[in-house]
Amino acid sequence: MYGLVNQAIEDMITHQFSVAKWEEIKKTACLGDMAGFENMQSYPDNLTYDLIGAVSKTLDITTEQVLEAFGEYWVLYTAEKGYGDMLKMAGDSLPIFMNNLDTLHSIVGSMMPNLRPPSFQCTEITNHSLKLHYHSKRIGLTNMVIGLIKGLGKRFGTVCEVSLIESKKSEQGQEDVFFVKW
Ligand code: HEM
Repeated sequence: MYGLVNQAIEDMITHQFSVAKWEEIKKTACLGDMAGFENMQSYPDNLTYDLIGAVSKTLDITTEQVLEAFGEYWVLYTAEKGYGDMLKMAGDSLPIFMNNLDTLHSIVGSMMPNLRPPSFQCTEITNHSLKLHYHSKRIGLTNMVIGLIKGLGKRFGTVCEVSLIESKKSEQGQEDVFFVKW
């Protein structure tokens, strides 16, 4: 994944804990010698998974909890790190924004040619709920999506509930369906 993701993990830990905690996490992930990440450089996915695993071990919380916290943080982080206008363009309410997630990532992809973005579709849309279908070539990031939606809810001041109603892993990747209620 692009270094921006790893940088956001670093930022979350140094802001919510400390630089010392981040150094400990890097050591646990066998990345002790790594000075920092280049935001526009692609890194192996395994490096990001190793960091998530090391955060979980160091903070003694589950990887699901780490991913959810990180998803929530990503919404704030991208808004502050130069992607605020892009987020604004994707919509000014939670349902509109969820409908535009693929457009958002295709705009990101025009700047990051190696991007392998997830894909999202909304179905069964009502005034207060929808089903969000998530497809990814990567496995195991389901809880990140839960955190992302909660983070978007906070961005729009919309109280929302997210529940996972279907989840399938295959050689093609991960296919999940979330019920989002607001
Ligand atoms: C302007 C804001 C955003 C930017 C710049 C951005 C960019 C990225 C980047 C660089 C990756 C790593 C993928 C790769 O390097 O191949 C990624 C992954 C991801 N993004 Fe976004 N993103 C943004 C907003 C969002 C939002 C609001 C969501 C909400 C659902 C989202 C959902 C995801 C998910 C779930 C992944 C994990 C990768 C996967 O599922 O395969 N992103 N995004």
